[in-house]
Amino acid sequence: MIGVLVSGTGTNLQALLDAGLPVLAVASNKRDAPALARVGHLPTASFELPEYESRDERDAVMADWLEQHGVELVVLAGYMHLLTPGFLDRFPGRVLNVHPSLLPAFPGAHAVAEQLAAGVRESGCTVHLVDEGLDSGPILLQERVPVLDGDTEETLHERIKEVEHRLLPQAVEEMLCAR
Ligand code: GRF
Repeated sequence: MIGVLVSGTGTNLQALLDAGLPVLAVASNKRDAPALARVGHLPTASFELPEYESRDERDAVMADWLEQHGVELVVLAGYMHLLTPGFLDRFPGRVLNVHPSLLPAFPGAHAVAEQLAAGVRESGCTVHLVDEGLDSGPILLQERVPVLDGDTEETLHERIKEVEHRLLPQAVEEMLCAR
């Protein structure tokens, strides 16, 4: 009953698949997202914004496609676009996101670089329910990750992702069990 939205490399998608969670379909806003190559036999589709009149229309078509594939729970695994209110209304309280910081600190697309620039000694990752804001919405799970001397954006992000790959499947499992 899970639909996964991706834009990037898809290591979090891989963690969901490896955990044996019931992923039914995977969609992307980018046709060439490397994440799509990880999917194997599952249905995939891309919904690129320039091909639609508006974000509302794109998100409505994407929500239709997900519903047609039986999706009830939507997981954003590195999906780098804000979803429209119309999309969120289709899956009320059933859209999750994973983010590489201890939200509400450092929301947005450059969270890891901004944490290094700010000189924080402690980073982390957060799994939260999605609302209309930028990386806002009720927090489900959160875990700290230390920032080490000499960390670059790449090394810190890798260390955060190792935790994400455990926390995201755990949060999804807990959501499924609570339903
Ligand atoms: C992750 O760090 C996630 O928290 C953020 O985007 C990154 C996606 O990585 N939203 P991947 O595509 O799952 O490898």
